[in-house]
Amino acid sequence: MGVSLRKLVYYVASTLDGFIAAPDGSYDFFPVEPDVTAHLAAGWPQAFPTFSHPQLGIDRPTGRFDTVLMGRATYEPALRAGIASPYAHLRQYVFSRSLPPSTAPGLEVFAGDPVAFVRELKGRPGGDIWLCGGGNLAGQLLPEVDELVVKLHPIVAGSGIPLAARGFEAHRFALTGTRAFDSGLVLLHYVAAPAPSAPAAALATPAGAAADGAAAGVTAEGAPGR
Ligand SMILES: NC(=O)c1ccc[n+]([C@@H]2O[C@H](COP(=O)([O-])OP(=O)(O)OC[C@H]3O[C@@H](n4cnc5c(N)ncnc54)[C@H](OP(=O)(O)O)[C@@H]3O)[C@@H](O)[C@H]2O)c1
Repeated sequence: MGVSLRKLVYYVASTLDGFIAAPDGSYDFFPVEPDVTAHLAAGWPQAFPTFSHPQLGIDRPTGRFDTVLMGRATYEPALRAGIASPYAHLRQYVFSRSLPPSTAPGLEVFAGDPVAFVRELKGRPGGDIWLCGGGNLAGQLLPEVDELVVKLHPIVAGSGIPLAARGFEAHRFALTGTRAFDSGLVLLHYVAAPAPSAPAAALATPAGAAADGAAAGVTAEGAPGR
């Protein structure tokens, strides 16, 4: 059997300083811009909650995903609003040690190791896997993220829920595409990049030059933006 090409894709909205929600978990400070929404509804319809499809004109939410992963804190607002299956058009897994087993069809509460689980999912046949968030779950799964798609809002928040909450370690990504909108949002597509080779890292020897060298390395490794 060949190697599975199933990808884990972290598709997320962020501020310029890397926050995906306010400290209290709210995210209504991210403006909803009609041009961006229309573009995303056409390109990423599966990442909109099922209930919103009629108002967005999404008839069939087709696309690359067949599965979505959520942390409990990401899922809970929907549950509180009475929506037990927010992405009913996808297979849904919610990571939680506190929620009871789900009774919603197509949604499973899972309490195991997310990395082992994703590796197992990648080995099964299927479409790509959307990592919805939040920062806690994404921090654990960062080494498994094959693609990172950031809806970068022109906002500096100062504090909030980070895009990936984990200890310091430089995970590199290569830029594969960009699209800027009049509203100021920039959609950034990255793929996971290999760590720099030892000889390249050794070039950045002088103090102070190391930081510049690291930044230059990222640029050199990245594919040019579209
Ligand atoms: N901007 C965006 O595009 C975007 C996207 C998604 C989410 N968000 C925001 O992100 C915020 C939530 O992020 P967050 O970092 O606070 O939380 P989160 O990652 O959504 O959820 C954390 C919870 O997931 C469960 N969990 C995590 N790791 C687990 C493991 N290994 N095993 C079992 N359960 C595990 C735990 O739930 P239990 O406590 O139940 O065990 C944990 O408290 C929300 O405000 C949401 O709106 C923003």
